[in-house]
Amino acid sequence: MTAAASTGSELLLEVEGLSVDLPTEGGYVRVLDDVSFSIHRGEMVGLAGESGSGKTMTALAVMGLLPTRKPRAEGRILLEGRDLLALPRRELQSIRGSQVSMVFQEPMTSLHPAYTIGEQIAETVRRHLKVDRKSARRRAAELLDIVGIPNPEDRIGHYSFEFSGGMQQRAMLAMALACGPKLIIADEPTTALDVTIQAQIVELLQDLQQQFGMAVLFVTHDLGLLSQLSETLMIMYAGQIVEVAPTETILRRPRHPYADVLIQAAPHPDQRGGRLPVVPGAPPRPGRYPEGCRFAPRCAYAVDACQQPPALEAVEDGGVVRCVRQAQLSLGRP
Ligand SMILES: Nc1ncnc2c1ncn2[C@@H]1O[C@H](COP(=O)(O)OP(=O)(O)OP(=O)(O)O)[C@@H](O)[C@H]1O
Ligand SMILES: [Mg+2]
Repeated sequence: MTAAASTGSELLLEVEGLSVDLPTEGGYVRVLDDVSFSIHRGEMVGLAGESGSGKTMTALAVMGLLPTRKPRAEGRILLEGRDLLALPRRELQSIRGSQVSMVFQEPMTSLHPAYTIGEQIAETVRRHLKVDRKSARRRAAELLDIVGIPNPEDRIGHYSFEFSGGMQQRAMLAMALACGPKLIIADEPTTALDVTIQAQIVELLQDLQQQFGMAVLFVTHDLGLLSQLSETLMIMYAGQIVEVAPTETILRRPRHPYADVLIQAAPHPDQRGGRLPVVPGAPPRPGRYPEGCRFAPRCAYAVDACQQPPALEAVEDGGVVRCVRQAQLSLGRP
């Protein structure tokens, strides 16, 4: 696609047919297979799915941070029309942090214990914006203020271990915001926090998204959280996207049987505790995926046709679904 063809589009990120193979002792295994989705400017998109389904790998691929030394990636990851998979390393590094940044589940793994919070944020600022030390430091304090850390002038001189879990996550967000990214990827940013702090961080992320108009890809197991947060919901299973739809639509009328069980198993906001049983059986592991539909062995609706691999197909209400039976099924709550 030429640059001219992509201008005027509201699309920020387009992932097309992304497949990732990682080396293991037994050879390469495919951990992501034909992953396609897009994110519009300023959009809040949720990504959910069982453990091991490929959520983090998808996030890392977009960041150009796949683990291991020799990952193989195919497909395209277009950020404003530029293919990140085709960019030289140095250009990718400059995009990372300035246009796309990521907040991880464990802030302690990303915050350096030997530098003050202020030094780390100022360093990020200086790496991307050509400003002097003093301005970078001032910007660091401003950013701490934006993410709701009290006494930022004083706090920039503190080390991460002097911060509580919630404060560390706020500092991570400040760092992610340092260069005004167009997209923030938050990978289970609240899982390690207690419920009250969790709610505060989510609220902060929402505020920031509205204030700065950035897009957010929010990765979590927590569908209850996404139901209140995201405009669009993507569901992954066994390294593939199985359904994408507006959150309201998919919660009311999921089209993929896996999305249906995942939604049924999520606790309702108005119902405390009562988690319904999750779908029986375990998800298959990379390298051992069934030939046809990967969910078929656990699916209550599987038929012979499911032995063939289903394609991700567009449906009329704006979503996409990977299920040959979707038109015949009537899922969701009555
Ligand atoms: N370095 C690696 N080499 C090979 N396979 C890996 C590597 N890291 C992860 N995997 C595999 O890739 C698959 C996808 O992992 P990923 O971390 O993306 O899952 P996830 O959906 O984020 O799960 P969780 O909800 O537990 O965070 C998993 O099956 C995992 O075992
Ligand atoms: Mg993960």
